[in-house]
Parts: sequence; structure tokens; C-alpha cells
Amino acid sequence: MVIVTGANGQLGNAVKNLLIRQGRKHSALTHKELDIGNFEAVRQAVKNLKPELVINCAAYNDVDTAESHPNDAIRVNGLGVRNLAIACGEQKIPLVHVGTDYVFDGDASKPYTIADEPGPINAYGKSKLLGEKLLASLTDRFYLVRTSWVFGEGKTNFLKSSSAGPPLRKSCGSSITSSPAPLRRWT
Ligand SMILES: NC(=O)c1ccc[n+]([C@@H]2O[C@H](COP(=O)([O-])OP(=O)(O)OC[C@H]3O[C@@H](n4cnc5c(N)ncnc54)[C@H](OP(=O)(O)O)[C@@H]3O)[C@@H](O)[C@H]2O)c1
Repeated sequence: MVIVTGANGQLGNAVKNLLIRQGRKHSALTHKELDIGNFEAVRQAVKNLKPELVINCAAYNDVDTAESHPNDAIRVNGLGVRNLAIACGEQKIPLVHVGTDYVFDGDASKPYTIADEPGPINAYGKSKLLGEKLLASLTDRFYLVRTSWVFGEGKTNFLKSSSAGPPLRKSCGSSITSSPAPLRRWT
């Protein structure tokens, strides 16, 4: 059994549909059904559903609004990940989490690697880096995948915003052709 959080988002939808296609037992929980910022709710869900894996697709993803509401971003991207890491760690369940290139300052002249030091320059990036750090310090069974772009079914995605609005902006200065972020695995 797999728990998917943030199941109404782009990635959450895609993961849910994949699990359906694969015929895998799962519980795809929307924001309404599980607020990852609520520690007791997260702990109870993990304890009661007894999953073999949790895939965290929940995030505060509004990069611009995060600047004026940094605590909202921290609550989900930082503390929400902490809650999942503690709950999964307690039950010895692996946790899959998705990170972002916004943990970097974007000044590098070549694609980032796992060895590069993060240095976020905005509130969203700082909140996502906090989540990464808490994840790594609170459980030893996790996968962290950093990516630059996600598009799929959901309220919005960078393709929609780029066709409706201004041309594609560079993400923290990084090129959209940058190589895929490496998979980090701790078991
Ligand atoms: N989008 C990108 O281009 C991009 C780029 C790099 C990395 N990422 C990362 O990839 C992952 C997936 O992104 P995405 O594009 O699929 O995001 P998304 O479409 O914005 O979906 C995020 C989901 O999380 C839910 N959510 C928000 N706060 C929550 C909370 N407290 N508890 C539970 N659910 C909550 C949202 O529900 P509501 O809408 O109802 O609040 C939404 O369904 C995230 O970790 C993101 O940081 C995304």
C-alpha cells in the first residue's frame, strides 16, 4: 500500500494514475484529506494505513506569493516534510520527497550536481531546503529527487503560465535545459 500526499496536484495526480494503472493498492490523499502541516494527522494516517511507501507530492508551490507569506511556505515545505519524516521514521517506512533547483542560487555556469552547496535566494527555495534538511536528519529511509520542472494535470504549470503570461523566466538563473537533478538515496 502506498500513501500519496497532495494527490490533487500535478505530480500527485500523475503518481495516483500510475498506481491505478499498475493496480497497486494506494491511498491518494488530497490536501483536504490530509494536511501535512498537521503533525498528529500525519502520524495517525501513517500509523493507521500502514503503507509500505509514502510519496510526498504536497507542497506550497507559489514561488512569488511565498515572498510575502514565507511562514506559509515553511509550514508545508519545511514542517510538513518534517512531520512526514518523523511519522515514516517511526514506522520504518521509506519516504519519497521531491525537491527543487531553487535550493541553489542559480549562479553556476554548469549543471548542478549532488555535491554542490545549496544557497537559496528566495523564500520558496529556503522553505524547500529546510524540508530537505529536516528530511535527512529525521529519517534514514528516504529518497530525495530534485527537479526543475513539473507539468501535468493540475491548477497550473509552467507551460500554461508561459503561454498565458510573460516568456519563460530562468529559474534562479538556471537553464531549462539543465541536466536532470540526481537521485539521492539514503537507506
Ligand atoms: N511545479 C514545478 O514546476 C516544480 C518544479 C520543481 C519542483 N517541484 C516540486 O515537485 C513537487 C510537486 O509539485 P507539483 O507541481 O505537483 O505541485 P502542485 O501541482 O502545486 O501540487 C501541490 C499539491 O499539494 C497540496 N498541498 C498544499 N499544501 C498542502 C498541505 N499542507 N498538505 C497537503 N497537501 C497540500 C496542494 O493542494 P491545494 O492546491 O488544494 O492547496 C496541491 O494539490 C513539489 O514538491 C514541488 O516543490 C515542482
